Order: sequence, then structure tokens, then C-alpha cells
Amino acid sequence: MKQGIIVGASSGIGWELAVQLAAQGYQLGLMARRDGCLNKLADSLPGEHFVQKTDVANAEQAVKELTSLLDKMGDVDLIIVNSGVGSKERLLDWEVQRQMIDVNVRGFAAMSLTAMNYFVQRGGGHLVGISSAAAHFSGGLTPTYNATKAFASNYLNGLRSRAARSKMPISVTTVEPGYVETAMVEGRPMWLAPLEKSVTQMVRAINKRKNHVFITKRWRYVALLLDIMPNALIRKFM
Ligand SMILES: NC(=O)c1ccc[n+]([C@@H]2O[C@H](COP(=O)([O-])OP(=O)(O)OC[C@H]3O[C@@H](n4cnc5c(N)ncnc54)[C@H](OP(=O)(O)O)[C@@H]3O)[C@@H](O)[C@H]2O)c1
Repeated sequence: MKQGIIVGASSGIGWELAVQLAAQGYQLGLMARRDGCLNKLADSLPGEHFVQKTDVANAEQAVKELTSLLDKMGDVDLIIVNSGVGSKERLLDWEVQRQMIDVNVRGFAAMSLTAMNYFVQRGGGHLVGISSAAAHFSGGLTPTYNATKAFASNYLNGLRSRAARSKMPISVTTVEPGYVETAMVEGRPMWLAPLEKSVTQMVRAINKRKNHVFITKRWRYVALLLDIMPNALIRKFM
């Protein structure tokens, strides 16, 4: 039986990833703070699954909890680090910024490196990190969120290089969604993609062990443009 772990499975993209991976026969380890939601999810999925309450903002404790879940499960081939928070910053407030940095940077790195070390020890595996198309630009209203996602994408690139050098069958997939219909998104921004369709595209990329995927595909062209556009021009739009 294939085994996988989703960090941040209690709602939105993580929840739907669990639904679609369980339908493919995965036995899952489900992690997040809201364990009530995780238990409800586990009960709704076919087969038996594991639930581990965790707060990745407490990175050291979260490493212990991920390690103990890996021990309990036995032979995990896929770890998806999906946990993330995004807040608009009408004021520049340290508490708000720190929360995003704690979850999207410290928590993200701690979960990803624990996954990599486990796969090196195991002799193979697949790390998937959910970053964002927001990694390709910055804006005055979301400077911290964009910066944390730039960290995530860049960090995953580095881990992919290490995996390649190790000559072990370790894959690292970077997922960069644009707008996906979840609680995180306020209102109805342009190109808001339905959750199920977005996650189907993610799962396809995961199954192919792709290095990188934009969700939906059109964000690839937006990101390419943003990468070469002068900042002064980007500021006119953001
Ligand atoms: N929706 C979009 O348009 C979009 C676009 C680009 C990227 N993304 C990224 O996609 C990922 C999933 O977001 P979503 O849209 O599905 O939003 P969501 O429904 O708010 O899901 C966020 C998930 O992260 C978990 N999480 C947050 N803080 C955590 C913490 N301290 N410890 C452990 N888990 C934590 C949440 O669980 P608990 O609250 O139960 O802890 C939840 O399961 C995020 O990384 C987000 O940045 C989303």
C-alpha cells in the first residue's frame, strides 16, 4: 500500500488532496492544528488513516510530531507540505508578519528538511511543497506573504539540487497555484480556479513526479512575464 503525509490537511487544498490521493489507494497521515477537522476527513475517506495534531509555527515540536508519525506509519513515499497562512497587510504589523514567517518559512523549512532526511535514510521518496505564483512578484498589500512564498520556491529548488546530487530516487515537486477557491482567498479575483479541478492538476503533476507545476497552467505565462517585468511597471498593476 502507498503511504503519504499531508501537512495542512484540515481544509482547502490539503483536504482535497487527501480526498483525491485516498481515492488512488494511498493510506494517509493527516496533520494540522484543527484535529477535529482531520478526524472528520479521515472518517470520510476510504480505508484507515492517521491523524496527528500539529502546529508548524512551533517548528521544533512539529519536527518531533512528523518524525513520530513517520515511525508509526512505517514506509512513507510521499510528503506534501501544504500548510500556509496569508494575510493582507493594511498596516505593517509584526504580529501579522511573524505568523506568516513562522508558518510559511520556519514551519515549511522544518517540515521539508525532516521529509528530505527521512527520504535519504529510506533511500528514496517524493517531497511536494505548495508554494504560490506569488513567489514571482511582490506587492505593497502582501509583502510578507509574497516573500515567504519566494523562500518556499527557492528552498525547494535547492533541495531538488541536493536530491539530484545524492543520486537517490528522491523527487521534489514545487506547486505554484495562482488563485484557488478556498477560505484563504477573499472575494473572487481574476482566474479563480475551482478547488477540485486545481487539485486534480496537482495530483497529475505529483503522479508524474514533475519538478514544477503552475496551477492552473496559464499562471506559467503570468510568472514568466512577472520575472522579466521591471518592478516600476509591476507597481502600476499591484
Ligand atoms: N487558495 C489559493 O488561492 C492559494 C494560492 C497559492 C498558494 N496557496 C497555498 O496553498 C496552501 C493551502 O492553502 P488553502 O488555500 O487550501 O487555504 P486553507 O484552507 O486556509 O488551508 C491552509 C491549511 O494550512 C494549515 N495550517 C495553517 N497554519 C498552520 C499551522 N500553524 N500548523 C499546521 N497547519 C497549519 C491549515 O490547518 P489548521 O488551520 O487546522 O492548522 C489548513 O489545513 C497554503 O500554503 C497557501 O499559501 C493557496
